[in-house]
Amino acid sequence: MKIRFVLATTVLIALAAPAWGHGAAVPFFGGQVAASGELHVELAIRDGGIRVWVRDHADKPVAATGKAVLLINGVKTELPLRAEAERLTAEAAVKTADKVVAVLSLDAAGKPVSVRFAQDAVVVPTLDAQASAGQGLFQTVCATCHGPSLRGSDQGPPLLHPWYAAGAGHDDNQVLSVIGNGTAGHMWKFGDMPKPEGVKPGQEKDVLAYIRAMQAANGIGSMPATTMPAMPAMPGMTDHGGHGGHAGH
Ligand code: HEC
Repeated sequence: MKIRFVLATTVLIALAAPAWGHGAAVPFFGGQVAASGELHVELAIRDGGIRVWVRDHADKPVAATGKAVLLINGVKTELPLRAEAERLTAEAAVKTADKVVAVLSLDAAGKPVSVRFAQDAVVVPTLDAQASAGQGLFQTVCATCHGPSLRGSDQGPPLLHPWYAAGAGHDDNQVLSVIGNGTAGHMWKFGDMPKPEGVKPGQEKDVLAYIRAMQAANGIGSMPATTMPAMPAMPGMTDHGGHGGHAGH
């Protein structure tokens, strides 16, 4: 009985966190990560284009060229990728909220790499009065960085992300405190979140209600700790594994 239970739990973890199986493949810029041999490819869909980062197993950038085939809400486009600093980019008539399938065909340090990503369309639920008030504030104050669909931008991470699910180490008090004060960058490579301007004391709860309603409608529900995807271990950030305490900010 006991062994059966343990096995079942293991299977659940594997199903809940397919992209996280090897632990090391952590997104730096809010995208999805796929592994191909020794390489990790992160794809981020932004409003108006895509970004791709190729890294080796030690997270060092790897020079790459290639193309992307996107199926955006069922319509296919093929795009050459342009090298830009440590990433590849392409402009496309795509929105973060769209249903997208992306297949990248890359040449990374002389090796052919083909990876596939998919995301569902964002679901906007019917909002109660409090969440509607929060929606207005979010779109004015937060969307420039977290995206109008909460799926992130070049300035900030997606909040429709398992790391930010209720019960996942960013509980309600943590989110309320971040809305009031901002936070030092610790999960991603976007840098710090400055203290937001324009949310009055007392309105943090409205914004939180909107974020939670959007998360619930998009399958980012509260999760038992055992099925949590691994948090990143950032260089220089020891003792941060569980992400539970948030000491110091
Ligand atoms: C100027 C850009 C910017 C704005 C505006 C902004 N954020 Fe952020 N936010 C960030 C960045 C960057 C991070 C990631 C920090 C990190 O690496 O953990 C972040 C992280 C967060 C987190 C996770 C905090 C944690 O403890 O890890 C929450 C929740 C959040 N933001 C909510 C909001 C809300 C709600 C608003 C509007 C009231 C907002 N943000 C406005 C950039 C921004």
